[in-house]
Amino acid sequence: MAASGNGKVRFGVIGTGMQANVLTGPVLKNPHTEVVGLAEIREGVAESFAERHAIHPAIYTDYRELLAMDGLDAVIVTTPNYLHAQIAIAAVEAGKHTLCEKPMTTELADARAMVAAEKKADVRTMVGYTKRFFRGTRFLYDFLRREDLGRVYHVRAFYFQSWLCNPNAPTVWRLEKEKTGTGVLGDLGSHVTDLSQHLVGDEITRVSGMMKTFYPERPSLDDPEKKQAVEVDDGVAYTAQFKNGALGTIEASRNATGNPDHWRVEILAEKGAVIYDSVDRRVQLSMIEGPSRHAGWVDLSVSAYRYGEEGFENQNEIDHFVECIRTGQTPTPTFEDGLRTERVMDAVARSSLAGTAMDVEA
Ligand SMILES: NC(=O)c1ccc[n+]([C@@H]2O[C@H](COP(=O)([O-])OP(=O)(O)OC[C@H]3O[C@@H](n4cnc5c(N)ncnc54)[C@H](O)[C@@H]3O)[C@@H](O)[C@H]2O)c1
Repeated sequence: MAASGNGKVRFGVIGTGMQANVLTGPVLKNPHTEVVGLAEIREGVAESFAERHAIHPAIYTDYRELLAMDGLDAVIVTTPNYLHAQIAIAAVEAGKHTLCEKPMTTELADARAMVAAEKKADVRTMVGYTKRFFRGTRFLYDFLRREDLGRVYHVRAFYFQSWLCNPNAPTVWRLEKEKTGTGVLGDLGSHVTDLSQHLVGDEITRVSGMMKTFYPERPSLDDPEKKQAVEVDDGVAYTAQFKNGALGTIEASRNATGNPDHWRVEILAEKGAVIYDSVDRRVQLSMIEGPSRHAGWVDLSVSAYRYGEEGFENQNEIDHFVECIRTGQTPTPTFEDGLRTERVMDAVARSSLAGTAMDVEA
């Protein structure tokens, strides 16, 4: 599957900001890869990125030139959200295996176009839903498939950060509608929407959502003396109906006082309930019947679980993508899997705007 003479998967990274740094370490640690090219529009940024990672890739300002370079096998798309679809589609059409960051796009139609491109090409695609690659959530996914907890009643999930509690935090691209699409819904809500549907193994079909901008203007990044309008949500809360009848309650906020980075998912079912919490990384179980029912909530021992290493979820994610490229297996989640989450987020945004519940588009 790899095109290079040494059998390694040759990667290009498009957009060399924060997340590119997070993912490139694991790419370089994987024994079957190398990074051969970077694309970045900010002057000097790709050069310092290369220096930081002690690599010597070709450097381009136009991602199309990177895609045209000889021997490139795969790309990681880590630009702001509004560029994901055009870059990912160009990459897939150029025959490159493509890991695109979340959220997939700023418009549902563009996510559908990514899936259409994926279907036509013989490449592996993946969306960066990293929460699937935590030891605890992977354990939970397997546990829920091994043990029958019966009918699911409730799915509760949140993803909270607190960096926007500061009213003087400036308007970075994540707060500009044109570049980000939705605000915290796409940024953090997408993670827990994906995780909820993934763990339960079912789809959300109807939602009722509310999105809130707590600070409608903030200092401009370019000129802190000037105020700039914030057009996207700081906080979102939505209720959801799953196809299997379960009821979901999902929240995300970047104004979550006391929660620098905290997410959690709870699945409350007929025979028992399970929780994963990102702060203490515990998986807990409570059963209705059997001896363990006397224990209330018990910790499940994840330490013996043979999957990756605790705290190395980005490595697990990259290793999975590389393994799929090398073996031809289908990664999780593909663009098609990611579209499920985009469809739900589209319905939440429509619902919030209309002030009424909305069906998720097929
Ligand atoms: N999976 C996760 O847990 C996770 C975590 C953080 C960020 N992300 C996602 O990663 C993406 C990037 O986020 P970030 O925090 O790294 O942002 P960032 O602003 O730090 O980096 C984005 C980079 O893209 C560059 N860029 C912009 N336009 C470009 C173009 N046309 N060609 C090449 N480069 C271009 C920018 O100059 C910048 O260096 C976002 O979609 C974000 O949602 C995912």
